[in-house]
Amino acid sequence: MLKGKTAMVTGSNRGIGLAVVKLFAKNHADILACARTQTPEFEKEMQELANEYGISILPVYFDLSDEAAATSAVKQLIKNTERIDILVNNAGVTTVGLFGMTPVAKIKQVFDINFFAQLSITQLVTKKMSRNHSGSVINICSVSGLSNEKGGLAYGSSKAALAYATKTLAVELGANGIRVNAVSPGFIDTDMWKERDEDLRSSLLSKTPLARQGSPEDVAKAVLFLASDDSSYITGRNIIVDGGRI
Ligand SMILES: NC(=O)c1ccc[n+]([C@@H]2O[C@H](COP(=O)([O-])OP(=O)(O)OC[C@H]3O[C@@H](n4cnc5c(N)ncnc54)[C@H](OP(=O)(O)O)[C@@H]3O)[C@@H](O)[C@H]2O)c1
Repeated sequence: MLKGKTAMVTGSNRGIGLAVVKLFAKNHADILACARTQTPEFEKEMQELANEYGISILPVYFDLSDEAAATSAVKQLIKNTERIDILVNNAGVTTVGLFGMTPVAKIKQVFDINFFAQLSITQLVTKKMSRNHSGSVINICSVSGLSNEKGGLAYGSSKAALAYATKTLAVELGANGIRVNAVSPGFIDTDMWKERDEDLRSSLLSKTPLARQGSPEDVAKAVLFLASDDSSYITGRNIIVDGGRI
């Protein structure tokens, strides 16, 4: 489905990002696999995937909270890469806290990673995509950005901002042949849920018609659809992958 395309994926070392990398590899994309920290395990896993599917995977390292380092790494990448067809803005952080107990500085930190860093990367990459008059950007938002929950202000509003940017960028970049869409996962089984209490988990499950937690692969399948030419007439949309949560 992605043969001949090059995809850049952030947060590709675990969770949803790793599932996206694996599914893209299976669909024969070449991949720029971005992670925060270089580890021998990650490098080995990427090399094994590349060998298995006969593709190229280049691990790239930067921390989204360090804007200068992140933009410099992405600029370098753009210089050294012939083309980038797909950008998956997946890396993100979550936080929970009542507004009255959350310093605004903390909210800014969440926005720096979940919103501003995504914009910086998107600005650089879509400039390159524009030269080929083609590209697909997929922003991983969240159902938290579409609803309102106690304690969800920092995370939810950062994802709501990213969902808004998705729609606006779709309008601005459509004429350049670039599609911009979002995927909003619900309750997905990744490390993000490791430290949440059981009551919250059971309450979420009771509101999920499909009666199970989603897997990273469930999300990756929606991302693959938006990355591929199968979604060639879809832009500015947000696919919700949440088991039909009510
Ligand atoms: N899991 C869910 O239920 C759920 C629901 C809705 C939306 N989402 C969204 O889905 C995306 C992926 O989340 P996940 O569930 O796969 O979570 P995860 O397993 O916690 O993975 C988060 C990824 O983001 C990376 N990351 C975090 N901060 C970073 C930084 N400052 N610089 C570079 N990379 C950074 C992490 O890298 P390190 O390994 O270095 O920390 C990791 O690769 C996030 O945007 C999240 O908000 C998840």
